[in-house]
Amino acid sequence: MGQIIPLFSTPVYQSNIYLDNYTVGTLSNVSFNQRNRCSISENKKILDLDFCKNLKQALEEEANEYIYQQLEIDDRYRFKFTDSWIMKHVTNDFSPKHWHWNSVISGILYLDVYPDSGKLLLTNDNYNHLFKQTIGLKPKYYNIFNSQVWEISPQNGDLIMFPSFLSHAVTHNQNTRDRFCLAFNMFIDGELEPGIN
Ligand SMILES: [Fe+2]
Repeated sequence: MGQIIPLFSTPVYQSNIYLDNYTVGTLSNVSFNQRNRCSISENKKILDLDFCKNLKQALEEEANEYIYQQLEIDDRYRFKFTDSWIMKHVTNDFSPKHWHWNSVISGILYLDVYPDSGKLLLTNDNYNHLFKQTIGLKPKYYNIFNSQVWEISPQNGDLIMFPSFLSHAVTHNQNTRDRFCLAFNMFIDGELEPGIN
């Protein structure tokens, strides 16, 4: 029996961190700008707030695990948080498919969610499985090798990190309660050496 080498896959990191009620409550009560499908915090540097110091440190430790332990990037390259903001989805809100510009790694920390308050959909825009978009063979069972969309049902404290080019969306909030998550971007800190590939 042979085996598959999951070559050139998109490495998505999944973890869970402890969240205290004070932090979640305070982050859920920041000022929001309402858009047509969801609300985004006015503050786009949420992790720089004083009361987020411990949270920022916990996220840094997870990012280090992802970047240096799992992806095995050389630790002479340092990464920093650039933007960080709170997303609020009230009933029927959703997020259409998008990706994050001018960022290397993006992450979502789920602060206050419910089973029916919106799933995260990650999309394989590159069709980097056996079939390109002109071939529409339906798999018998969906798995990480044949899926076009990967669905994650987040729970409180769940942390998802992924390359910023990865397209993602959030399904409608079908709960009467608001759904809150913290999103962030990371970029390389410092100079990169020039070179020829
Ligand atoms: Fe996003």
